[in-house]
Amino acid sequence: MLRKLDENLWVAEQPLNYLGLAVGARMTVVRLTEGSLWVHSPLRLTPELRQEVEALGPVRFLVAPNKYHHLFIGQWMAAWPEARAYAAPGLPEKRKDLSFHAVLSEQAPVEWAGQIDVLPWAGAPMLGEVVFFHRASRTLVLTDSAHNIGPEAAPLTRFAFKVLGGYGRLSTWMIDGLVNRDRAAARRTVDTILQWDIQRVILAHGHIVEQDGAQAFREAYSWL
Ligand SMILES: [Fe+2]
Repeated sequence: MLRKLDENLWVAEQPLNYLGLAVGARMTVVRLTEGSLWVHSPLRLTPELRQEVEALGPVRFLVAPNKYHHLFIGQWMAAWPEARAYAAPGLPEKRKDLSFHAVLSEQAPVEWAGQIDVLPWAGAPMLGEVVFFHRASRTLVLTDSAHNIGPEAAPLTRFAFKVLGGYGRLSTWMIDGLVNRDRAAARRTVDTILQWDIQRVILAHGHIVEQDGAQAFREAYSWL
């Protein structure tokens, strides 16, 4: 299931419906320099996925990156009880059944510092998204703060994105209402993200942007 994108960077995908549309879901795995794994937005833990992940290294960090991407992290916390689980702001209140070790903040945990930058979206508490930048591969890791639905999507999903906008490029309409709460604050977040030297953009839903990611992200958020 895992697909290597770059040195120490993999993704895996599973089918997922959202608002009645087949948008799929993606998780991201980074191997940190000391060899352990950082797992972003973990998918349903199947035996095959577990076996592939274990072949890469020990799972040490689990990340639930917003208030909606938490469905399967409990399975991973149970499978790797020694891993540290990080929650997006507001998620521990929503998932009182899970014992997260810490809430994500702008301050990267010391084990990732210098390798993965961390930035919570300001002014969008309903989504509570936290975004990441893997420096070595110049990869921005988004969850729901943009989608990228193109020709590989299911027919109804393609139709919806053609009608509502954003087909074939990074789009934000599905979450505009969540980011729009405080536009000035969200704008500052976008500006901070654009200071990173982004080549690739990984998203939880839709096609990965492999080149000119900074430009694609800038265009997606030009409305801000
Ligand atoms: Fe999502």
